[in-house]
Amino acid sequence: MKLLVTGGAGFIGSAFVRMAVGDRGFHVVNLDNLTYAGNLENLAPIAGRECYRFVHGDICDAALVASVLADAQPDAIVHFAAESHVDRSILSPEPVVRTNLLGTFTLLDAARRHGIGRYVHVSTDEVYGSLAPPLEATEEFPLNASSPYSASKAGADLLARSYFVTYKLPVLITRASNNYGPYQFPEKLIPLMIANALSDQPLPVYGDGMQVRDWLYVDDHCRGILAVLEKGRDGEIYNIGGNRSLPNLEVVRQVLSLTGKPESLIHYVKDRPGHDRRYALSSARLTRETGWEPAMDFEAGLARTIDWYRANAAWVARVCSGEYRNYYERNYGNRSVTL
Ligand code: NAD
Ligand code: DAU
Repeated sequence: MKLLVTGGAGFIGSAFVRMAVGDRGFHVVNLDNLTYAGNLENLAPIAGRECYRFVHGDICDAALVASVLADAQPDAIVHFAAESHVDRSILSPEPVVRTNLLGTFTLLDAARRHGIGRYVHVSTDEVYGSLAPPLEATEEFPLNASSPYSASKAGADLLARSYFVTYKLPVLITRASNNYGPYQFPEKLIPLMIANALSDQPLPVYGDGMQVRDWLYVDDHCRGILAVLEKGRDGEIYNIGGNRSLPNLEVVRQVLSLTGKPESLIHYVKDRPGHDRRYALSSARLTRETGWEPAMDFEAGLARTIDWYRANAAWVARVCSGEYRNYYERNYGNRSVTL
């Protein structure tokens, strides 16, 4: 199979490309404009392969996207590229709206003109918003976005669906829960807590730390996307969850315990504006139709992730220099302690 993957230098996209090229022998063209979150080091394991090619470019550039499609002639597109961090979307919504909405539109429209055979649009459980227990979102739940990030993803989902309904573009949408694993940029909860714990820095917990997320190991997510690509039904939406809901504070305590660091490093800070209290979703449709299930146990996945961050201190140091320092100061600098 020949794929055009967007955002393949990011956390999940690079795991997907390593799996598609390395394990499955697919041909992949990776279109990525290398924002702060894009890193070609993440693709070192497959960089020299004949069936892999990197194109440095922006998904909002319609002429470029058209020429990449004409040149690569892929069987399918798997669209990961996005501004993916909620806190950054609160500080600076403009790039989020641009890439997640205009970029998705540009790609969909180029795919329609090209006549692509399959188009997997990678989305998120955040589009369902906060759910009171014991609710778990099925794919029919209403969209209820809270942050500029989740609103842009919800809008992109609607655009993607409109291209199926209106133009019969064979679009499939995936909505996954919180991913963790190696190569994740240390701005998201788990890698940030690991990086800070390993360097004896405070671990900033928003509000009371009792917000709940469902944790999905990144390779399980990528297997789910491959299952949708190969076995999903056109026009359908598929949730992909880890079946492991935990309050943030428990995740942070596990990171401290596994790194051998004291709980005194926990630092309660001002809550995130518009913070969703709880995400939860059911992946029953994906399991029923493709047999997919999450394989990684959370404790084992977290221990493996921590081992990776320990062994890749140079990678962490590189991505935590420069722009990251400015972001960290902007996001955490004036967040006074609340508890
Ligand atoms: P990431 O921030 O690690 O990577 C995003 C990648 O997209 C980067 O390589 C970046 O350079 C690239 N990119 C950004 N703007 C671009 C543009 N205009 N043109 C081309 N490339 C561009 O993101 P991630 O965590 O790997 O998330 C990937 C996708 O999965 C996103 O669509 C996100 O919404 C979705 N998702 C993420 C999670 C999660 O927990 N991280 C969960 C569910 C869904
Ligand atoms: O649910 C899927 C989504 O998960 C993806 O669509 C997003 O791309 C991804 O960023 C993630 O969004 P969250 O906002 O849930 O993830 P984040 O890692 O930013 O935060 C997880 C929880 O931890 C959330 O309740 C906020 C909290 N948190 C986060 C950070 C960065 C803290 O308490 N302190 C922190 O410093």
